[in-house]
Amino acid sequence: KKVVLAYSGGLDTSVIAKWITETYGCEVVTFTADLGQGEEVEPARAKAQALGIKEIYIDDLREEFVRDFVFPMFRANTIYEGEYLLGTSIARPLIAKRLIEIANETGADAIAHGATGKGNDQVRFELGAYALKPGVKVIAPWREWNLNSREKLMEYCEEHNIPVDFNKKGKKSPYSMDANLLHISYEGGILEDPWAEAEEDMWRWSVSPEAAPDKAEYLELTYSKGDIVAIDGKDMTPAEVLTYLNKVGGAHGVGRLDIVENRYVGMKSRGCYETPGGTIMLRAHRAIESITLDREVAHLKDDLMPKYAEMIYNGYWWSPERIMMQKMIDASQETVNGKVRVKLYKGNVIIAGRQSEDSLFDASIATFEDDAGAYDQKDAEGFIKLNALRLRIAAKKGRSPL
Ligand code: ARG
Ligand code: SIN
Repeated sequence: KKVVLAYSGGLDTSVIAKWITETYGCEVVTFTADLGQGEEVEPARAKAQALGIKEIYIDDLREEFVRDFVFPMFRANTIYEGEYLLGTSIARPLIAKRLIEIANETGADAIAHGATGKGNDQVRFELGAYALKPGVKVIAPWREWNLNSREKLMEYCEEHNIPVDFNKKGKKSPYSMDANLLHISYEGGILEDPWAEAEEDMWRWSVSPEAAPDKAEYLELTYSKGDIVAIDGKDMTPAEVLTYLNKVGGAHGVGRLDIVENRYVGMKSRGCYETPGGTIMLRAHRAIESITLDREVAHLKDDLMPKYAEMIYNGYWWSPERIMMQKMIDASQETVNGKVRVKLYKGNVIIAGRQSEDSLFDASIATFEDDAGAYDQKDAEGFIKLNALRLRIAAKKGRSPL
């Protein structure tokens, strides 16, 4: 019996590796991914070896993550509950996919992860795993063991010779964090009081808007079928685009967020997020769509977007309904080509211009000047009268709203 563990190289998942070996007497295969979290993944190899792991997978998934998960999500202008850009939610289905691929390669019949029994991540990992390998077994130690405090965890380490400096960077952050190319998240610690403001030194990716440069910075983003393919005229891969936008956005204080969100399991949770590149992408994508999409197509996308966001948040990336909706979203993006100019200034993303060969914007019709007969203003009279018909009938029948 074999299990593939999503292994960060940190203390918690190291304890999990040991605990599974002892409790289930099975072999553990570790899988560590570089999703752009900004930490070396290679050290995870030596740590896994020290734990006696024989099969160790370390993958650079940055391009796949942005190309096949982040970009498709941004084509829909996706945000959860009006605010959250889904940085953690969108990474989970990729990790689930790799866990299953590795299980199939190594002949493992189970997967394991370090998510708690209280959160969204367990749901996302497991729904993904079941969708891709229906008979898979799942081991979720946080739901099973009794090492539910820091002290008990430390005791376990001592008893089993797990070096405590497995803790990333030696010092334990007071927050539960998760990072990848799209965002970094902070939960727990003082944030458990929704009234308490986050301390300035918590934020790792962005300067505060107050500390941002006094001079604005402009970027020119080139779109092809709804995706950014070049910045300031320079072609870039998806991961390069996001890496670059994170850097520039972060330097201008763009993309900080402090929210209380509804977890799928039912509780409310307070979280802080930094999503500099994503925040720029969301604004700019709306700007390019504003000239290239038909009105009803755009509005239908907007109607369906919260549903699509919920599917991703709740862990249904690998579901038939999400895949169906993706086809529709992608079909809408055929004409979403062109350029957007954005200005970054003290935490703000300000659209400065948009341009497209596929533009539906017609200056000769919209003009306040003489339109040379392009639009007959008399047509508007009947248009308004017929739209008013039911309002007038109701009012005549004594249903006046006043
Ligand atoms: N609340 C966010 C979400 O559900 C972030 C979760 C962060 N996960 C973590 N393991 N720290 O997407
Ligand atoms: C966890 O509980 O493991 C992290 C938070 C979440 O999954 O929502």
